[in-house]
Amino acid sequence: MENRRQSLGDVERNIEFEFVRATENAALNSIHWMGRGEKELADAAACDAIYGVFDLVDIRGEVVIGEGIKDNAPGIFLGDKLGTWAERSPRFDIALDPIDGTSNIAKGLPNSISVMSAAHVDDDNGHVMRNIPSFYVEKIAYGPQLAHEIHRERVPAITLDDPFEKTLVVAATALRKRISELVIVMLDRPRNQKYLDVVRKQGASLRLIADGDIAAAVAPSLHDSGVDLYIGIGGAPEGILTASALKALGGEIQLRMWPRDEEERAELLKTNSEADLARIYTTDDLVAGDSSIFCATGISDSALLPGVKLVGQTAITHSILMRARSKTVRYIRAVHDLSKKTIHVRSSKEDRKL
Ligand code: FBP
Repeated sequence: MENRRQSLGDVERNIEFEFVRATENAALNSIHWMGRGEKELADAAACDAIYGVFDLVDIRGEVVIGEGIKDNAPGIFLGDKLGTWAERSPRFDIALDPIDGTSNIAKGLPNSISVMSAAHVDDDNGHVMRNIPSFYVEKIAYGPQLAHEIHRERVPAITLDDPFEKTLVVAATALRKRISELVIVMLDRPRNQKYLDVVRKQGASLRLIADGDIAAAVAPSLHDSGVDLYIGIGGAPEGILTASALKALGGEIQLRMWPRDEEERAELLKTNSEADLARIYTTDDLVAGDSSIFCATGISDSALLPGVKLVGQTAITHSILMRARSKTVRYIRAVHDLSKKTIHVRSSKEDRKL
C-alpha cells in the first residue's frame, strides 16, 4: 500500500485518545485523596500519572500553560517536556491542570476535574497557545448561541469593558430569556463582589462555586448545563484551557490580566506594556489555529462531568474529548476493572496497580 504522508488531522486523531488515558489515569490516581485534606498529595498523584502516560507516547510536547507555581504545589511546570521526544515525532504545545479544584478534592467537595489540552506546532513556527503572565485574569465566557447572535449582529457585541448590567440584557435577548431566567456562574471570592451585586440587583440567578472554574466557564457552551454565562476573576491558565474547549464547542471567552496588587503590576510591566495589560484577549488570541484537542475527566461531580464512581471492584470514569478541527465532542464512559487495571506512573517508571 502506498505510504501516505500523515495530514495534521491524522496526527491529532492518532494522539487524542492518549489524552483521555492521561486524564483518566490522573483522576484514578488521585481519587484516593478525596476528602483527606491533602491537596498537594492529590496533585502529585495526578501529575505522576500524566507524566507516566506520556513517557510511553512518541510526541514532543512542551508545557506552555501550566500550573503548580501558584502555591508551590507539586505540578507540571511551564517548559516541562511531555512525551518521548523521539526524533521527528509531532510537536505539541500542551496546556494542563492535572487537577482543577484541588481544594475541592481535599475537602471531598464536588467540582474537580483533570484537564489537558494540546495544539500541534510546526517546527519552524512559535507557540500557538498564549501564556498570560498574570496570576489572575478577568474573564467572561459564553456559549455558541450568544456567540452566534453577536456574530450575526442580531445583538450588540459584548466586552469585558461593558457595564455588566448591559451584558445581562444582551445575553437575555440573544438567548430569548428574561433576565430572571439567566443563570450566571462565578467563583465565590470577595474580588467578584461587583459582579455578584449586579446579578442580584438585576434579578438573574446566581451559582457560586468554591473552586474549579474551567468546568464552570465551559458549562455555558454545553446544551444541558443549565448555566448561561461565566463571569469573574479567576486563574489565568484556567482561562487558556477554557479557550481550547470553546474552540471546539463554538463558545467564546474574553480575558484580561488582573494584577493582584501594585507589586504584581510593576512586575508585569517589566516584560509587558500598559497596552498588553489593558488588552482583552479572545478565544482565538489564546489558542491560534484549528489544531486544538481538549480533554477532561471528572474526579468529583461538576457541571461538565460526573466524578469517578467506585462500584465494587470497578471504577467508572467520565471524560469529554474534543477537537477544534472536526468539532467532534465525545463523552467517554469507561469501566475499569480494578483487579486488572494498572497505570504507568513516572515515579516508579513501571505499571502499578491502583
Ligand atoms: P487549582 O485547583 O488548580 O489550584 O485551582 C482551583 C481554582 O479554583 C481555579 O479553578 C481558579 O481559576 C483559581 O483556583 C482561583 O484562584 P483562587 O483560589 O486563588 O481564588
